[in-house]
Amino acid sequence: MMIPPAVALGIELRVLAEFEDSAAALAATAIGDHRDAATVLAFAREVDVVTFDHEHVPQEVLAALVADGVAVRPGPGALRFAQDKLEMRARLAALGVPQPDWARVADAGALAAFIAEHGGVAVAKTPRGGYDGKGVRIVREAADAADWLDRGPILVEERVGFVRELAQQIARRASGETAVYPLVESTQRDGVCAEVIAPAPRGGRVAQAAARVAAAIADGLDVTGMLAVELFETDDERILVNELAMRPHNSGHWTIEGAATSQFEQHLRAVLDLPLGPTEIRAPWTVMVNLLGGPADGDLDRARRQALAARPAAAVHLYGKAPRPGRKIGHVTSWAEDLDEAAVAARAAAAAFD
Ligand SMILES: Nc1ncnc2c1ncn2[C@@H]1O[C@H](COP(=O)(O)OP(=O)(O)OP(=O)(O)O)[C@@H](O)[C@H]1O
Ligand SMILES: [Mg+2]
Repeated sequence: MMIPPAVALGIELRVLAEFEDSAAALAATAIGDHRDAATVLAFAREVDVVTFDHEHVPQEVLAALVADGVAVRPGPGALRFAQDKLEMRARLAALGVPQPDWARVADAGALAAFIAEHGGVAVAKTPRGGYDGKGVRIVREAADAADWLDRGPILVEERVGFVRELAQQIARRASGETAVYPLVESTQRDGVCAEVIAPAPRGGRVAQAAARVAAAIADGLDVTGMLAVELFETDDERILVNELAMRPHNSGHWTIEGAATSQFEQHLRAVLDLPLGPTEIRAPWTVMVNLLGGPADGDLDRARRQALAARPAAAVHLYGKAPRPGRKIGHVTSWAEDLDEAAVAARAAAAAFD
């Protein structure tokens, strides 16, 4: 999704992709292992700036790039806080950012103690490699995370009784300039983002607080590029940081049609240290619905045709992925003067992919 704005701006985008038929294969693509320093270094020497669309490039590889004089944005010193949830919790605590109660636990006794102190339930997380709710578990006893503890320390958090989940996007250039997007509301199903509403209804004071928190994190962690801050809103109108992503994020896909500058273009601008674009909304309400799993009959051509017939004005995005239960194969965005209208339209188009 960074490809269209790169083409529009005349920026030559090259991609190091994992597989031959990955979605990124539309750009000039090298195939290689992002965990192998020699592979990444050879790729990086051909470009001016290296950035990421996931956080799985190991710190050792990033350090090798920096040592070789490659411009890595965001830099390894920032990216580590999006790679490791334990490091993130510790750093956010030092910055004084509001977050759930948490602990680093290395054994069953410590986990059991945390659960007992938090009403008999907690949320355990693997520090690294989790996505779409994989690596997140509700635990009621230490045995529930025994397999993870066998492999090393984990993060445990209080289970937050949130009234809703929110996400705050902000872009930051190397020079320090920032651009804040409107706060959005996100709904997850089975730990996976299902829908996003922009802007978040009844934003008010919470929106101001979210923008402040995101700016404090972007500056405090010296982020370059897009930063997404996932948030919980509590019933007493506080916000707590769930986690960070330092790249264009699913909760910002609505910006492609719904904001004056999409998060993908903004990420390119920020990492290239170009002036940032305006972030205001283009319609009163924009709703994004993820396409999870794909059509039961596996027929994407049929589903695409049906979606466009049902809602010709909806923006349908497909990622070139084969349908598989739970997999994000695309998303649909609709916008309107009225929130219900936007939501009904986006859901109707998305329903063609059920
Ligand atoms: N401490 C918590 N209390 C209550 N619910 C939580 C907590 N932590 C996570 N969750 C729920 O689980 C979901 C996934 O958690 P988290 O965002 O940490 O995992 P992830 O797999 O890294 O997510 P992503 O898909 O964003 O990469 C959250 O969006 C939220 O709905
Ligand atoms: Mg998350």
